Amino acid sequence: MFKLLETLVEKNKKYGNDGQLASYIPALLEANPNDLGVAIVDVEGRKYYAGQCEKNFTIQSISKVVSLILALGDNGRTNVFKRVDVEPTGDGFNSIVNLETKDKKRPYNPMINAGAIATTSLIYGEDGEDKLERIIKFMRKATNNPNISINEEVYVSERRTGDRNRALAYFMKSNGMLQGDVEEILELYFRQCSIEANAIDLAMFGSVLANDGVTPWNGERLMSRETCRIVKTIMVTCGMYDASGEFAVHIGIPAKSGVGGGILATVPRRMGIGVYGPALDKKGNSLAGIHVLKDLSEELDLSIF
Ligand code: DON
Repeated sequence: MFKLLETLVEKNKKYGNDGQLASYIPALLEANPNDLGVAIVDVEGRKYYAGQCEKNFTIQSISKVVSLILALGDNGRTNVFKRVDVEPTGDGFNSIVNLETKDKKRPYNPMINAGAIATTSLIYGEDGEDKLERIIKFMRKATNNPNISINEEVYVSERRTGDRNRALAYFMKSNGMLQGDVEEILELYFRQCSIEANAIDLAMFGSVLANDGVTPWNGERLMSRETCRIVKTIMVTCGMYDASGEFAVHIGIPAKSGVGGGILATVPRRMGIGVYGPALDKKGNSLAGIHVLKDLSEELDLSIF
């Protein structure tokens, strides 16, 4: 398996030259577009990796999986889905158009920015600090990495330039879909996006999702079976945004991308996969990362369909 991963990293590195680093969060421009790393953790807890799999990056939209898990655990699915729907959009991850033009006011799904700001607002906690602590604590458990923390530089960079997310959040507040202090909710959202992890951490997280919400390494349940099932389903239909259909056809596994270049993927009952390649395609997904996942899916027959 190590050999296969090394071959796939070598083969797909070249795509780093065809993609673009995310520039709307200026600090993300510091990444090396040619980095590529991949890691697998199977449900028996075995680890395999190759390339830049120990390099830290910010998880960005992959944090939407965490806020959905916590929001579901805190509120139950009925209450969560009163505030956010579960339908794919076919629009970009930061699109605002549906919030006004469609008759339903709920954001379409928890994986686009509007929907994730809504789920983040539903996380329980005494105050912002407490809620952030819960998010980080969950990430540490799901990755078995007690060092998971926030990249302050990326956080400050996004807070300074995050006007699109402010627009989405204030719009949702104006139509009653977001409750509470908008700036506080955005602060928490920007911070969760700036959590740092590496490809191995993501593979660990993916292995928990593959194992129905229980850690393969110490048997701890981190979410209910139902939450785990819902999250994986929404990853399939919406996790790669307006590329989710194509990803399902060609790769066929639940996955969530982030503009930091990470992809968290999970093959039910088999393994978690983490990929890092910061050069993105036009839809904001790791270009080389998608190619690695496509090859892996073919080599190991991973499609769930
Ligand atoms: O809110 C944003 O725009 C970023 N913090 C996260 C977006 C993102 O990762 C989209 N994913 N591919």
